[in-house]
Amino acid sequence: MTATEPLKVAAIGAGGIAQRNATETARSGAATIVGVLDVNMKAARDLAGKLKARVFASYDEVLGSPDVEAVLLSTPHDLHCEQTLAAARAGKHVLVEKPLATTLEDAERMIAACRTAGVQLAVNYSFRYLPKIQKAKELVREGALGDITGIQVIAHQFKDLGYWMGARSTSPDDWRSLKARSGGGFLMMNVCHTIDYLYFITGMRGTRVYAEYANLASPGDVEDIISVSCRWGDRAIGSICASSILRGADTAEERIWGTKGTLVINESGLSMYSTRPVDGKRPGRLHAYRTFPDVSWTAAWVRDFVTAVRTGTTPPVGAREAWENLAFLESAYASLTAGPVTIPECPQW
Ligand SMILES: NC(=O)c1ccc[n+]([C@@H]2O[C@H](COP(=O)([O-])OP(=O)(O)OC[C@H]3O[C@@H](n4cnc5c(N)ncnc54)[C@H](O)[C@@H]3O)[C@@H](O)[C@H]2O)c1
Repeated sequence: MTATEPLKVAAIGAGGIAQRNATETARSGAATIVGVLDVNMKAARDLAGKLKARVFASYDEVLGSPDVEAVLLSTPHDLHCEQTLAAARAGKHVLVEKPLATTLEDAERMIAACRTAGVQLAVNYSFRYLPKIQKAKELVREGALGDITGIQVIAHQFKDLGYWMGARSTSPDDWRSLKARSGGGFLMMNVCHTIDYLYFITGMRGTRVYAEYANLASPGDVEDIISVSCRWGDRAIGSICASSILRGADTAEERIWGTKGTLVINESGLSMYSTRPVDGKRPGRLHAYRTFPDVSWTAAWVRDFVTAVRTGTTPPVGAREAWENLAFLESAYASLTAGPVTIPECPQW
């Protein structure tokens, strides 16, 4: 194995997102998909056929294959923990879909197992690689906002019955709608990405949360509407207002503001107002960033993961950041009955 040799990856799960994950991994130039495993054999065969990879008969076969260096887990949330533990025991690196696990307890077992085995672990919060998110981080780093004082998230969609039943997947299944399998609803399934990239942009972890949420109009027992009051770092205050039952007005917008300016991130791109001359822009005006390079964020995440494997450095969205994200989600869910929850600090590993 050389530092530039492509990482040999087995794709575990050939459902909805696996189509993109496996294809972009293969396209990244840094990794190859050597085989595909899915309990749905047709889905596995179809994806393997597209990638000219082999089909595995079992997870034991994957983990016993000397030519597999890493697993890419695109499976339901309740499988992430056991599949990661087994991969670590077999000495395979792990790329896992978000969220890391359904509970912090499982997350800590996964992190410990990977550390003990000396394998790398990273979670697919690759929206960090979207050019508008990278730009937002750069503007914050250059001081466009001053001291950050507020963060607001608005996220609304309409998710129909088919979404919860997996109707658009190659393997229809209702795991998304069941708390015992998914760990949570719209917050854990979708808004978790936003929570991750706000942390990435601002460098501020959530420190305290209080949430109201319910399932008002969807199958299963996970939330389809949630409102969270949050404290970020030791100073900033904000809120998350999200639902997957709002018809006809999809919205995804984040506002981050501080003593010197404001950033707004939405479907149109990014806009900045700053009282400082940042990024060569005139102060005291609103500046819109509307065009960005067309990049594959998943491939970028895979490339950085492979670099981390080959050089022994910290992978992108590794254990600590994945743990922080899950601590936010778990604390928000717990706060409905517990009252405002102080989000635990990440252990020192
Ligand atoms: N990063 C993103 O933008 C994004 C988008 C969608 C989903 N996801 C995440 O990806 C993961 C999978 O979601 P999905 O929408 O693709 O789900 P899905 O239900 O469409 O696919 C899951 C696949 O796993 C397979 N599977 C189930 N048990 C298995 C086992 N024991 N061994 C091997 N395969 C097994 C199923 O047959 C199915 O094909 C979840 O963690 C989800 O949150 C991420």
